[in-house]
Amino acid sequence: MIVLGIETSCDETAVAVVQDGFTVRSNLIAAQVDLHGRFGGVVPEVAARAHVQALNPLLEQALVEAGVGFGDIDAVAVTVGPGLVGALLVGMAAAKAVALATGAGFVGVNHLEGHIWANFLEHGPPEPPYVCLVVSGGHTMLVHMREPHGYEVIGQTLDDAAGEAFDKVGRLLGLGFPGGPAVDRLALEGDPKAIRFPRAMEDSGDFDFSMSGLKTAVLRHVKAERAAGREIDPADLAASFQEAIVDVQVGKTLAATRELGVGTVLLGGGVVANTRLRERMASEGEAAGLRVLSPPLSLCTDNAAMIACAGTSRFLRGERTSLDIAATPDLRLGP
Ligand code: KG4
Ligand code: ZN
Repeated sequence: MIVLGIETSCDETAVAVVQDGFTVRSNLIAAQVDLHGRFGGVVPEVAARAHVQALNPLLEQALVEAGVGFGDIDAVAVTVGPGLVGALLVGMAAAKAVALATGAGFVGVNHLEGHIWANFLEHGPPEPPYVCLVVSGGHTMLVHMREPHGYEVIGQTLDDAAGEAFDKVGRLLGLGFPGGPAVDRLALEGDPKAIRFPRAMEDSGDFDFSMSGLKTAVLRHVKAERAAGREIDPADLAASFQEAIVDVQVGKTLAATRELGVGTVLLGGGVVANTRLRERMASEGEAAGLRVLSPPLSLCTDNAAMIACAGTSRFLRGERTSLDIAATPDLRLGP
């Protein structure tokens, strides 16, 4: 079974061909970071236009690399939300056109579901249940999954997403956009204990998160040090900020596994590319007797293979999405 995946929810144009649900035949991404960098963030209109330009050639290249033609496609899986409406529309229009022209099936996929399913590429899903930590530029949530497409969001951020916090601190340190990967690299040379930033909601007793206080604390620290004429060590600042985020995320994920009696953790979303988060989830998960899965680095950030993977499973369950479906910028995961 050959499934074409298309993902254009934010600033990456992505097309992939996945065979039998889990084997990646091609996985192409046209990043727009150069276009948005000078604005310090993603500009929705610019993103949509860039998707229009990039999508058709990328689609052709993905088929060539996979060694398949339009006639070989059994189904098209596309991200229908959450995301930027103009950006989503471009991918959805292309996906619908391919389905209509070739007679292939059409399946809409939730972007966050895709991030979770990125864990299943190559090896397929382990036995549920799972606790999933989904941390991206737009979302931070803990999800309880008892079955492959059953999602119960048990906690989420009350304000900023984790990726957003990384990007804001990156900007504060003059590291460009997106800040996450740059903060990660800088933090490798810093002392995570240098500055004690607040661990928001660490002991709140629920699974919600809050990032805005941490972001303000970082800003206040920088201002206070500058006012006092002291030099700031950017590496120490990056490492200390990162540690505060990772502490809460690891703590709450492990607490969720204990409370729900779940033995498998899935990590998903761009922030899961973070070196410290991966390290600590792996070591502390192992110490707690948990199985911790995370996608390979290239499949943590936005890609279309993860959408094709989740879409194949939905297609095989008999799900078909109407071609009338609209882009849904605020699409929720689960009921
Ligand atoms: O999942 P993703 O590619 O797009 C969304 O769905 O939002 O996530 C992008 C986010 C950005 O905020 C980026 O800074 C962050 O993931 N990110 C990282 C790292 N790599 C990407 N954050 C921390 N450490 C990283 N290594
Ligand atoms: Zn994403």
